[in-house]
Amino acid sequence: MTALAVGAVKETATGERRVALDPDAVARLIKAGRSVLIETGAGTAARFTDAAYRAAGADVTTRDRVLAESDVLAAVRCPEAAILSKLHTGQTLIGLVDPLNHLAEMTSLATANVTVVAFEFLPRTLSRAQAMDALSSQSSTAGYRAGIVAAEAFGRYLPMMITASGTAKPAKVIVIGTGVAGLQAIATTRRLGAVVTGYDVRAASRGEVESLGAQFLTSSVSEGAGAGGYARALTADEHKTQETELAAALTGFDIIITTARVPGHVPPVLVSAETLKNLRPGSVCVDLGSSDRGGNVAGSVEGTTVVTPEGVTIVGASQLASDLPTSSSEMYARNVLSVLASLAPSAEIVIDAVDEIHQSIVITHAGEVTNALVRAALNLDPLAATDAKTPEETSAA
Ligand code: NAI
Repeated sequence: MTALAVGAVKETATGERRVALDPDAVARLIKAGRSVLIETGAGTAARFTDAAYRAAGADVTTRDRVLAESDVLAAVRCPEAAILSKLHTGQTLIGLVDPLNHLAEMTSLATANVTVVAFEFLPRTLSRAQAMDALSSQSSTAGYRAGIVAAEAFGRYLPMMITASGTAKPAKVIVIGTGVAGLQAIATTRRLGAVVTGYDVRAASRGEVESLGAQFLTSSVSEGAGAGGYARALTADEHKTQETELAAALTGFDIIITTARVPGHVPPVLVSAETLKNLRPGSVCVDLGSSDRGGNVAGSVEGTTVVTPEGVTIVGASQLASDLPTSSSEMYARNVLSVLASLAPSAEIVIDAVDEIHQSIVITHAGEVTNALVRAALNLDPLAATDAKTPEETSAA
C-alpha cells in the first residue's frame, strides 16, 4: 500500500500568513510513514523556509503537483476557487473552511467527490477532541496578540512606573468575552502590568477570570450560557440591560478588548457609539469580534485601525492569529496531525459514520453533503440517522 500523501499550499486568503503544516509536523508525518508535498514558499510568511521543509523530509514543489498528488490537502482557511476546482475524486480537504459561509463550494466539492473536514464543527468539549481543537489554538494566539496590539496602540505605560521623573499609574484594561481568546488577553495584559477586569455573560467564566488574578465585572446579565459551553444570543431586554450597565462601567477603562461572539449570530455591539464618546482620549479598543457583519465595538472596521474624533483608537482585529504566524501555524499543524491520526490511522482515510467527532467534522463525503447543519443551511433533507457512539463507547473501542 502506498503512503498517504499529505500536502499544503500557500494560503490564498488576503493577508493570511499562517501555513497548515510546519517543518516539525512534516517530520512527524514522515516518521509516521506518510509522504508530504509542500508548495514552494508556502511557509515563507510564517518564517519557515523551503530548506527547513526539505530537511524535514517534504517534497517542496509546485502548487499544481501538490494539488494533483496529495491524498489530503491541509489548509488553514478555505482555499480560493482556483485551488478548489483542481481538487479531485478521493481527495480530502482539512481546514478552518467555514462551511456555512462557503455553501456553494461545499456543494461543488461534494459533487467532485472530495471529502471536506472542517474544524469549526468539532465537538470541542469531548476530551479526545482537545488535541484537534484548532478554534482554541488559534483563539489562544489571537488573544495573546490582542494584548500586545492594545499595548502597542496605547500611548502610555501598562504597568505602574515609579521613577525619578515621575510616577505612571497602571493602565486599566477590561476584556469583554472571556472565552479562550479573552482569557489569553487577560493573562497577557496582566503580565504587562495592567490592572485587568474580565466580563462575560456565562456564569462559569467568573472563576476562570479570577483564577488569572483579574477582577470580574459583576452584571445582572449573567445567565447567558447556551449549548456546548458557548454563549446564547441575549434577549432584547437582557441586551438593553447589558448595554446600560456596560456604558456606565466602561468609561473607567483605558483599554477595552472585546471577543464576544455567539455562534450563528451577528456579534453583539457591546461598546456603543455613545460609550466611545465618553472614553478618555488615548483609550484603545481592540475588537476581536470584528467581522464583515459588524463587531463588538461601534464603528470597528475589520482589518483596519480607526481613530475617532474624540481620540479613541479602534482596532478591527478579526485575524490576529495570522499576526503571530509562526506560533499559530505550529499549533495549527498539531491540530491537523491529531485529526489525521483519527481519520487515517493507517494509509487511507476511513470515515467512521458512528464516531461523534467524524460525524461532526466531516462536511462532505462519498459524493454527498453529510453534515446535518450544512445540509439544513442548503435546504437538503436530513440523511438517515446513524447513532453516534457515546464518548465512553468510543474510548472503550
Ligand atoms: P467564542 O469565541 O464563541 O466567544 C467568546 C466569548 O464571548 C465567550 O466566552 C462568550 O461567552 C462571550 N460572549 C458572547 N456574547 C457575549 C455578550 N453579549 N457579553 C459578554 N460576553 C459574551 O467562544 P470560545 O472562546 O471559542 O469558547 C467559549 C467557551 O466554550 C469556553 O470558555 C468554554 O466554556 C467552551 N469551550 C470548552 C472547551 C473544552 O471543554 N475543552 C474547548 C473550547 C471551548
